[in-house]
Amino acid sequence: MTLVAIDGPAGSGKSTVAAALAARLGLARLDTGAMYRAVALAALERGVDPGDADALAALARGLEIEVAETVRVDGRDVSAAIRSPEVNAVVSEVAAHPAVRAELVRRQRAWALARGSGVVEGRDIGTVVLPDATLKVYLDADPAVRAQRRAAGGHLPGEGATSLRERDAKDAGRAASPLRVAPGALVIDSSVLGVDEVVGRILAALAGRGGVPPTPTPAPPRAPRPAPASRGPGAGELAFYRVCRAIAVGASHLYFPGPVLGRRELPRGPFILAPTHRSYVDWLIAARVTRRRLRYLVKEEVWRSRVAGRLLEALGASPVARNSADRQAITHALGVLRDGEPIVVFPEGTRRRGPAVADIQEGAAYLALRAGVPIVPVALGGSERAMPRGSTLPRPTRVRILVGEAIDPAAFLPGAGSGGRVPRVATHALTEHLRQRLQELLDAAEGRAGAEGAAGGGG
Ligand code: DC
Repeated sequence: MTLVAIDGPAGSGKSTVAAALAARLGLARLDTGAMYRAVALAALERGVDPGDADALAALARGLEIEVAETVRVDGRDVSAAIRSPEVNAVVSEVAAHPAVRAELVRRQRAWALARGSGVVEGRDIGTVVLPDATLKVYLDADPAVRAQRRAAGGHLPGEGATSLRERDAKDAGRAASPLRVAPGALVIDSSVLGVDEVVGRILAALAGRGGVPPTPTPAPPRAPRPAPASRGPGAGELAFYRVCRAIAVGASHLYFPGPVLGRRELPRGPFILAPTHRSYVDWLIAARVTRRRLRYLVKEEVWRSRVAGRLLEALGASPVARNSADRQAITHALGVLRDGEPIVVFPEGTRRRGPAVADIQEGAAYLALRAGVPIVPVALGGSERAMPRGSTLPRPTRVRILVGEAIDPAAFLPGAGSGGRVPRVATHALTEHLRQRLQELLDAAEGRAGAEGAAGGGG
């Protein structure tokens, strides 16, 4: 679990840094300023006096506020409206009321509790909302630089250094949870630093704190594992595989046209390819991710069909019992990885329906930790439409395959090397991290509001 609290004045770069950091760590981000802005906007629209604490608190309690890629109040997209000069003018006053703060702080804590990990930005996150965060950061910058950034970012049209200073003075001077540097916070002056440098400092501090550290930093090349348990494919086996793959991939392109994005990031050595699972044709779609031979762990039931079983075997698959720590399958998978080959494991275990990636199985994380190989999350956008559960034949459908950055399991094993006992907490943490990455990728692949750019580079 990694909770990062980022506080600082307006224009200090919090939002940009929080977004970049969250993307780097594969975590969700919460902009708490947007919540205060949402209440201020609702107050303006409903004629509630920004000085009336009770009326504002009642208003806040009754609002449904959703802060994600867009900001919604009672279902309406107010992303632009909350950044208006009118809202800028009253938001500090609205945010100064302890009763309003109590309601929003409660929601912010609930957000963090529900996720366990995330990047939360605001003014009182390290001091009040999440004083036990893994890392607290206080971002600052010269007022002139901040005013410039805000104007350039289009957040506060026309707001100069003077009015920013006024707002800061209000935020810092108020009685309830004023803007302060939290005890133990890492203070960064971003006046002359780029986003990458600020994020780099935060990542370095996080690694030093021993919280679940950042993962998607490029993993150092791994030494090949000693003593392979079984040999790689022979020439004949490989030729047969290539023919089968060519047919499968040809059919896949024909039936399910669409791009594969991000595959340039694939590791060279062994890895676990972890796709989302919404249909029986997923293995056919996933086969397009790499030309290398992909080995599969496929649930036992599928092998009952003789045709599927034969084909799967030819394609390097092995059966796995679902919902059980199938020893044989694990031993087999470890052997494949030791041979330096990639293996496909569907972390959702069985075909799921709908947009949520939830309750994923721990096998992929466990294997990654045991073998010391990265996991590559992949979203197969559109596959559910290609062959929804219950249908007997696939239908031609456009798909979008997003390959995410490789997740290095070493970051989840503080101190210990790979190959030994795998601590449960590491498996849980890596599983949750993988789940979040898959969710973001699937949202992006399906074109839902979310992590566009969640995949690594093009390809
Ligand atoms: O970060 P921002 O400029 O969008 O914040 C809008 C206002 O909300 C700002 O005046 C400070 C206030 N705020 C707060 O009091 N506590 C927070 N955690 C976040 C923002």
